[in-house]
Amino acid sequence: MVQTAKKTVQITIKRQDPEIDGNKPYFQDYNVEVEDWFTVLDVLIKIREEIDGTLSLRCACRASICGSCAMRVNGQAKLVCKTKLSSVEKDNKILVEPVGNMPVITDLTADFKPFWDKFNAVDPYLRPGSEAPEAEYIAPNEDMVHLVGVMNCIMCGCCVSDCTVLEVKDNFLGPAALAKSYRFIADPRDNTENERLEKLLDDGGIWDCTRCMQCVEVCPKDVDPMSRIMAMRSNSLNKNMNKSYGARHANAFTSLIKSSGVLNETLLILKTKGFFNIIELIKLLPLAISAQLAGKRPPFLSHSIKNKDKLKKIFKKLENK
Ligand code: SF4
Ligand code: SF4
Ligand code: FES
Repeated sequence: MVQTAKKTVQITIKRQDPEIDGNKPYFQDYNVEVEDWFTVLDVLIKIREEIDGTLSLRCACRASICGSCAMRVNGQAKLVCKTKLSSVEKDNKILVEPVGNMPVITDLTADFKPFWDKFNAVDPYLRPGSEAPEAEYIAPNEDMVHLVGVMNCIMCGCCVSDCTVLEVKDNFLGPAALAKSYRFIADPRDNTENERLEKLLDDGGIWDCTRCMQCVEVCPKDVDPMSRIMAMRSNSLNKNMNKSYGARHANAFTSLIKSSGVLNETLLILKTKGFFNIIELIKLLPLAISAQLAGKRPPFLSHSIKNKDKLKKIFKKLENK
């Protein structure tokens, strides 16, 4: 018989229950004897089955397929069935919390309604439009190979849990829903690319991502939501969809660098908001005044760099790519 090493680990779990103290979160420690092959999910199940039957958690496949066991381990979202205890415990201790950016039902069980609402908001279905083929549509192989990565999403919510924008902006569609939108935008059988992109230009869409990379880091299926969002931004810019401040900011940034090699921040704001957009410019007055008082107001005029010709050549090369 194969012998495995045993040791005791302290698991601290963030718990809360609507029936206890008004759903106020509290932390509870459990000392659990574990084997060296245990995953974090194995420990949680052992606690529930042998130590404390009141612990609430969600899991099903135990094989990183169903996406139901996402939780935060030591502050980072993970599928706990895929996470070996030995890879996360420090000095025989770990902290387990429910996923972030979603309301908690009890203990480690979150309410995914906001997640599904945002998913539904991007119309996650193939729309062939009026050009629907009468017979079978055989998609080019390379297009489908390109989509495999994004189709690997198991809707676990890890990316949503750790998205830094969702922490401060509830209406952001978030990495999972936006990656799903890309899945249809990039599908050659879908004929609603422009309508889909137009919708994503609104507040809460593709221009709200700050490129923090958290979604890339925590996704257990390498879906890489951030790159999908960036691809949709490029698509929309190539189609001259410039109505959002994000698009105008990107265009202004590029044109300023291209013309002088220097980022003139005053002009950047004016070009982004619009020179005659009085209401938006008035909103920026307090910022301008505090920057002026702190001696940090950017100059109205800036000089061009030397070797501007070299810069132009770089742009030319990029534009001809
Ligand atoms: S890269 Fe964008 S979508 Fe991804 S976690 Fe950061 S802000 Fe959210
Ligand atoms: S993109 Fe990745 S982290 Fe986000 S829901 Fe899909 S599989 Fe989970
Ligand atoms: S239990 Fe299914 S993904 Fe973890």
